[in-house]
Amino acid sequence: MKQQELTDSSKFSMVSRYAFAPVYPYLAGQIIDKFGLYSGTCIDVGSGPGNLAIEIARITEMKVYSLDIQPEMSRLARNNIRQAGLSERITAVTADVCQMPFPQDWADLVVSRGSIFFWENQTAGCCEIFRVLKPGGVAYCGGGMGTPEIRAQVLQNIRENAVFSQERDYWIYNIGKTRKRLDPEGLCASLEELGVQAMVERENDGIWIQMKK
Ligand SMILES: C[S@@+](CC[C@H](N)C(=O)[O-])C[C@H]1O[C@@H](n2cnc3c(N)ncnc32)[C@H](O)[C@@H]1O
Repeated sequence: MKQQELTDSSKFSMVSRYAFAPVYPYLAGQIIDKFGLYSGTCIDVGSGPGNLAIEIARITEMKVYSLDIQPEMSRLARNNIRQAGLSERITAVTADVCQMPFPQDWADLVVSRGSIFFWENQTAGCCEIFRVLKPGGVAYCGGGMGTPEIRAQVLQNIRENAVFSQERDYWIYNIGKTRKRLDPEGLCASLEELGVQAMVERENDGIWIQMKK
């Protein structure tokens, strides 16, 4: 399994649109309810085609930034944001999580789904997220499909939708495997040593690192 294949913009764009569709509204609702944040600034790190950023903008009044290291993902995100009629509320930015073009103490909420597994330096990425968080702000970075039922739905979408006819086995094999690239307890221990408070949350179908500043 190659990292480039799993984050390939055209492949991922298809899977996020036709298979993962139910994941994003569920996670957006869960994260917003959990932290009770409805206004201010939110960054979706490693946003891919921008689906989570779009769902967060739909249910809040937040100004949202969808940030991804791949320019092609930012282009896809901009397209989806325009189609959702949210260009005034969401800005797509191309940057590495380790070097975000945002000021210190700035964001109220940083979310990141399915991306941390691919960061070359997860500790540096989390430290950079912590830098841009406002005091009182919160970051929630990890992965998962939301619930086992949604995971089953995602797999069913892949099995049944003709758009996956060439790549069905590839996605069925790879979905859920990326979490092996994260040692959440080890990451939290490294962050703790650097003065960043972080904790692991395993819930329902997800694994998340929560940081509060
Ligand atoms: C599996 S996709 C997940 C996309 C999206 N969050 C979702 O759930 O639909 C992982 C994304 O993380 C991005 N990514 C990987 N390394 C990154 C980094 N160092 N900084 C920012 N984005 C990164 C990839 O380009 C890719 O778009």
